[in-house]
Amino acid sequence: MISIRELRKVYPTPTGDVVALDGVDIDVPTGRVAGVLGRSGAGKSTLLRCVSLLDRPTSGSVLVDGADLSGLSGADLLAARRRIGNVFQRFNLLDSRTVAGNVALPLELAGEPRSRRAARVDELLELVGLSDKKSSYPAQLSGGQQQRVGVARALAARPDLLLCDEATSALDPETTRSVLALLRRVNEELGVTIVLITHEMDVVTTVCDTAAILEKGTVAASGPVAELAATPGTMLSDGLFPQLGAADVAGDGRAVLDVSFLGDAADRPLLSEAIRATDGDVTILAGGVETVRGSRVGRLRVAVDTTAVSEATKVLRTGGARVEAVA
Ligand SMILES: Nc1ncnc2c1ncn2[C@@H]1O[C@H](COP(=O)(O)OP(=O)(O)OP(=O)(O)O)[C@@H](O)[C@H]1O
Ligand SMILES: [Mg+2]
Repeated sequence: MISIRELRKVYPTPTGDVVALDGVDIDVPTGRVAGVLGRSGAGKSTLLRCVSLLDRPTSGSVLVDGADLSGLSGADLLAARRRIGNVFQRFNLLDSRTVAGNVALPLELAGEPRSRRAARVDELLELVGLSDKKSSYPAQLSGGQQQRVGVARALAARPDLLLCDEATSALDPETTRSVLALLRRVNEELGVTIVLITHEMDVVTTVCDTAAILEKGTVAASGPVAELAATPGTMLSDGLFPQLGAADVAGDGRAVLDVSFLGDAADRPLLSEAIRATDGDVTILAGGVETVRGSRVGRLRVAVDTTAVSEATKVLRTGGARVEAVA
């Protein structure tokens, strides 16, 4: 388990202090894929740099299985860094080295003998599907292929933790999907814990088990991805159901309810139950159902006669839905 506790990072600048992280708490269970979702400037890269030990937090701690990494220095810090692989948005490959040379770099730095390096590089290129590009140079590869090299290099020293900063932001949607599938495979087959930071909602709903939504240096919401998707007001839910994030609510004198449901509740005929209980007095104004990490998540906006609101609310809540009056 990685536990980020009360993490603060303040950058002093000539024009005053910039508070990039303002008390961040996030738990990432071992062996899972966790997302950190946030808009530009929310503090995502700062958070990842503090976790990867490339930067020091102003205060707070990063605990891995209970051991505090933020206080390490010297040889202990280097050893801890070796347990962490980094994948970058712009790949950061060395242009003068071949694919194999790039993947071998962390092994050279760790002092692995040449014979073991060669075998490990072959294994990694096989894993990322680039065995045939071994002797190519980065400039001869597509963006998606370069990022696969980036993933292979990050895994070379057999890290327990892989940190990805906008790893797919420079890629088109289809290539993004294939790189995300590779990361998922790395997680499932090698058991590597992955923290993925992104401003793209799709990345989180496709590959992450849990997510934290970062806003202005604080965690606005966190939890299993399907639960966040079913929670109105979160960036994930409002982004997934944009028609329900809209402010204009036309009730025409009737009450308007926002109904959200997840998993078992999504499979029940909740709406027919509500319609029966209110003698047919439920009108759907907007809504949608999505499958998020294997769970069905739905959000509906319905209009109900004011006299039927309490009965409809009761029936829907009894069925496991969350109900909020919006007008
Ligand atoms: N070295 C620095 N010195 C001063 N301020 C910084 C520094 N690094 C980051 N910041 C500020 O900290 C805040 C968070 O930056 P950060 O790069 O973590 O955001 P981000 O969420 O990664 O954004 P993006 O999606 O654009 O990459 C921003 O206001 C940024 O200007
Ligand atoms: Mg960033």
